[in-house]
Amino acid sequence: MTPKKELRDSFDIFSKEYDEARLEYPEELVDDALKISGIPKDGKILDVGCGPGKATIQFGRRGYDILGLDIGSKLIGVARQKSADFRNIDYKVGVFETTYLPLKEFDLIISAQSWHWLNPYLSNRKANRILNDGGYLALFWNFEAFESSEFMSNLKKLFKQYCPDFPKDYGDANKATEHPTLKKYFKPVKEKIYSRDFDFNTEGIGGLIDSYS
Ligand SMILES: C[S@@+](CC[C@H](N)C(=O)[O-])C[C@H]1O[C@@H](n2cnc3c(N)ncnc32)[C@H](O)[C@@H]1O
Repeated sequence: MTPKKELRDSFDIFSKEYDEARLEYPEELVDDALKISGIPKDGKILDVGCGPGKATIQFGRRGYDILGLDIGSKLIGVARQKSADFRNIDYKVGVFETTYLPLKEFDLIISAQSWHWLNPYLSNRKANRILNDGGYLALFWNFEAFESSEFMSNLKKLFKQYCPDFPKDYGDANKATEHPTLKKYFKPVKEKIYSRDFDFNTEGIGGLIDSYS
């Protein structure tokens, strides 16, 4: 197994821990994505790399039909359990680049913390093909603001000392959003940072760090 594949698969192995540790996304982001895309009430959304369904459920709560797709069968199991009360939310296990999805099927594709895991040449082209004319792709990530407090900057120093590859800051997201094939198929509409404060106890911050790939 290549190191990148090994890291990618670690989300599935620790599916429950991942779900407990990771944060939801700002509701304002959900509002913006829905508003900018102009998706009709009966429109369809695809969540690529949905993991345990965090963003899927946030968009599903707004009443839209949404399909979550992920390579991790355990992750999809967790997502299905959490979504049992929603008839408008469905899931599928599969690799986005190779899973059959009908052309022009979706009005909005979202990908939370996942687009950098995909093959950019295949995934940007495919996203373009399965979106309706005028459809939108919304890519988003949660990142720690390591300069926001003394605690966070001390945490960054520890990362640098013991785990020099971390923190990646915005590197992964930038790699995905600046890829030429993304620009080939999609015109940028809006880029926005949503700032939030969180109180973590020792267990919470430890779980979050453990969930990093
Ligand atoms: C960092 S996790 C994000 C999960 C979820 N979207 C969230 O916000 O918590 C990245 C997810 O992308 C999935 N993934 C990676 N490559 C994929 C691919 N080629 N097709 C589908 N899912 C993929 C992984 O299994 C993992 O669940």
